[in-house]
Amino acid sequence: MCGIIGYVGKKTASPILYDSLKKLEYRGYDSCGVATVNGDGEIELKKGVGRIESVDKKVDFKSLTGKIGIAHTRWATHGKVETRNAHPFTSCNRHYALVHNGILENYVELKKELVKKGHTFTSSTDTEVLVHLIEEKMAHDDNSNLIKIITEVSQEAKGAFTFLLLDKVRKEIYAFRKDSPLIIGLGDNEFFASSDITSFLEYTNKAIILENYQLAVLNEDCIVYDVSTGLKIKPKVSTIDWTAEQASKSGYPHFMLKEIFEEVEISKHSLEQDPVKLKAMIEVLKKSKKVFILGSGTSYRACLLASIYFAQIAGKQITPVLGSEYKTYQNLVDKDTVIFAISQSGETADVLEGIYLAKEKGARVVSLVNVMGSTIMRESDQYLTLNAGPEIAVASTKAFTSQVLILTLLAYGLADKLNEGKDNLNEIVSVLDQVMNLSETLVKLAKDVLNKDDLYLIGRGSSYPVAMEGELKIKEIAYIHADALAGGELKHHTLALIVPGVTCLALVPNDQTKDDMINNIMQIKARGGEIIGISSENLDVFDYYIPIPQVHLESILMIPVLQMISYYLSVIRGNDPDFPRNLAKSVTVL
Ligand code: AGP
Ligand code: GLU
Repeated sequence: MCGIIGYVGKKTASPILYDSLKKLEYRGYDSCGVATVNGDGEIELKKGVGRIESVDKKVDFKSLTGKIGIAHTRWATHGKVETRNAHPFTSCNRHYALVHNGILENYVELKKELVKKGHTFTSSTDTEVLVHLIEEKMAHDDNSNLIKIITEVSQEAKGAFTFLLLDKVRKEIYAFRKDSPLIIGLGDNEFFASSDITSFLEYTNKAIILENYQLAVLNEDCIVYDVSTGLKIKPKVSTIDWTAEQASKSGYPHFMLKEIFEEVEISKHSLEQDPVKLKAMIEVLKKSKKVFILGSGTSYRACLLASIYFAQIAGKQITPVLGSEYKTYQNLVDKDTVIFAISQSGETADVLEGIYLAKEKGARVVSLVNVMGSTIMRESDQYLTLNAGPEIAVASTKAFTSQVLILTLLAYGLADKLNEGKDNLNEIVSVLDQVMNLSETLVKLAKDVLNKDDLYLIGRGSSYPVAMEGELKIKEIAYIHADALAGGELKHHTLALIVPGVTCLALVPNDQTKDDMINNIMQIKARGGEIIGISSENLDVFDYYIPIPQVHLESILMIPVLQMISYYLSVIRGNDPDFPRNLAKSVTVL
């Protein structure tokens, strides 16, 4: 949600900011804007509502001159989606421009005071308060010490307020982090400040991941301060092992399709976990009295599947909980509890809220994340990484598959059967390319059979959470109403909706659920429903058949099948699968 990017260096800033903004697009936004300090030393600014390309057609971002600038994709929280509410905002004297990610909780009180002092506001956002507050304080400080002023602002402001402040006089960017992520890219005689590594990966993979209350001052140099002490610090420089190529479409029509096909390769890397870290994680989970496994959306589906495999493979109970529902369980959490957070982005606010609350009760926090340096990773006592590379499409695909593989490996580890687990999971990895070869069959099925207003998915045991994930994906990007249910539940309610012509995807792994699944399929067929079976065996009861290779843990192989179905349905229906309406890649608000 929302993206910020700043550039200072020897090149013209606006084309770089424009390209970087495009790379932040996937996070979800409704308006955008760019500000630079031009050749005359003045702040110039352009913004508008809508997609970056269409706003650019109207305002021509690249016509902005100057070698320093900031830019923003806004995901509105305070104030309607209107051009006047798009970032950046300037101070009354236009010495400063500012972009912000987060929510300033006490903006109403602060704004009242600033208005009394004569400041004129042009928007209804919470953000604009920050730039006027800095201007006001600077005027009282003889315009001398911006670091001191930002320290004061950080003490007075409440909420999440990561921001970039562009100072036209000093020709500097002040990059401050409070809650929302902020990463400094260290290029060759140039610096970047962004909410996301991928936005500057083309220029550098050396980065400083700022902590809360750290401020980076960027000009010809990059100096980092801890504003709580006011002292300069020597930050850790990380080398990011993602490449710009990974963050581009590489000839695929959409990131989502590319990321599904990448599963063949990245699954191997996901299973190549550092043995020491893996063992340590297994030990923590093994010794814990209670484990709550927390996630949202797709990551929650991985939690559900993990709870089944932990039970079946390791005889270990772990309780899957939606990040947003964590509070319901807070009473059960104590210092002997482990909170296991699952998140691709590592920034999901619902999960983070759960983590913070659980920490208050003394719980231990461990996590499985994809984005290095993310907040969830940093809040964890221990973590494992997905090793899935950047996931750009809003719909999570390769990250989900990685989550499932690693969680299943952990289940085997808890059962002291790590080698058996590796064999079974490597068997899956070795046939993933055969599943990808189903794409033509799936396109045809999507066109001829599945392009309906309602779809049903049934599974049992481990294939039930996989069906739920299929349901989520179909709704998320194809905008088709879908309903996943455990086969046994049909007779309790949804059978009432099964009439001739209704289509149902049946997930039939070759395991102990098979016979029961066949019974459920018969109940659907008896009411005229048609069945598309996903299975390693072509059963008579199927009207259409999607063949998957026969392996242990077959449910996992059904994941890419459903991802491809949702992708093709989305494209057939004229949607943009990479940018589902109303949704953002990382959900950083509660
Ligand atoms: C998945 O397709 C969705 N876009 C969404 O449900 C996502 O999985 C959820 O927001 C959690 O994100 P996270 O894994 O980054 O925490
Ligand atoms: N709260 C700010 C606004 O509504 C920032 C939102 C964002 O992070 O994009 O403009």
